[in-house]
Amino acid sequence: MQGRDPAAASSHHERRKGEGMGRLSTKESQASAYAPSTFVTLTRIPVGALGIMRTMRSCGSYRESHLDPAKVASYERDLWDTRAAKGLEWMLERRLIDELLRDRPHPQRAIDFACGTGRVLGFLAQRVPEVIGVDVSAPMIEAAREHCPTARLVLGDVTVNPELLTESADVVTAFRFLLNAEPPLRAAALDWMRDRLGPEGLLIVNFHLNPRSLRGRYLRLRRSPGVVMAGVGEARALLARHGLTVRQVRGYSYLPYRRDGFRLVLPRVRRIVEGSLARVDRLTEWGSCFLLLAERSRDKASNGPAGEGREKRE
Ligand SMILES: C[S@@+](CC[C@H](N)C(=O)[O-])C[C@H]1O[C@@H](n2cnc3c(N)ncnc32)[C@H](O)[C@@H]1O
Repeated sequence: MQGRDPAAASSHHERRKGEGMGRLSTKESQASAYAPSTFVTLTRIPVGALGIMRTMRSCGSYRESHLDPAKVASYERDLWDTRAAKGLEWMLERRLIDELLRDRPHPQRAIDFACGTGRVLGFLAQRVPEVIGVDVSAPMIEAAREHCPTARLVLGDVTVNPELLTESADVVTAFRFLLNAEPPLRAAALDWMRDRLGPEGLLIVNFHLNPRSLRGRYLRLRRSPGVVMAGVGEARALLARHGLTVRQVRGYSYLPYRRDGFRLVLPRVRRIVEGSLARVDRLTEWGSCFLLLAERSRDKASNGPAGEGREKRE
């Protein structure tokens, strides 16, 4: 079943070209269709390290972003090549996920939301007896089926049709999703993932462009179009609004690089340096990517749907 949500897709606002990061007045903030309190959509030059930077093209919902079969090949490109930025980041992520999973020994079931071609799913399948991948894109799910034949795969939009998957899990993951998704989808996905967490369940999510990192600063200086960023503070606050308490943050990918298919300079040295930097807790706020380990907030009041959509209405 292809779980597109026409209502949500059509409600996705036309984003203005040339938006950047900066401080918003209340009036501007209200004018921005989905701007929540900390992820802001701006029209001025970047002025501070925090906040989210959006310089976006008009587009539909992120739900539609990977429906084209050609996306599979482009997504997989460089993923397994540690001489390229994407492959190096994935190598670091694998190490960090393993370290974070030490907080939850012997998980029995894991769900990877927005599993794409199944890289995280395949990795989890080597550690967790039962793994479930969820994605709205049929071509991505097909690729995931090849990579991870033991996984149960759910094709559809659980943010719209939650009945597609109602089991809880010890570990829920979402990689390269939250930053890309438009705020209402991001909010719905976080609520759904929170509700899937079992009693001691852990959520592991990544944010893959931090405005405080060297790479983030460089892109802000260039005012590069099509860029969305979030820092550790915004990410923590976002999760808190969805009834999730962050227990650990791990930064990685500190050195700047070009993400255009060019091979990294001195890849071996980079691997060693990046591997060492990823172990230094004090640097976490400056990584161009970071992982958050979170669990359901104990406080009942923060455990309900608390998405950006609701904030906006209040
Ligand atoms: C950038 S890919 C990330 C794939 C994978 N998590 C990874 O890190 O390799 C984003 C994925 O999100 C999926 N997606 C978008 N909206 C979704 C939704 N509402 N429910 C499930 N998956 C969704 C897309 O189809 C795409 O496969």
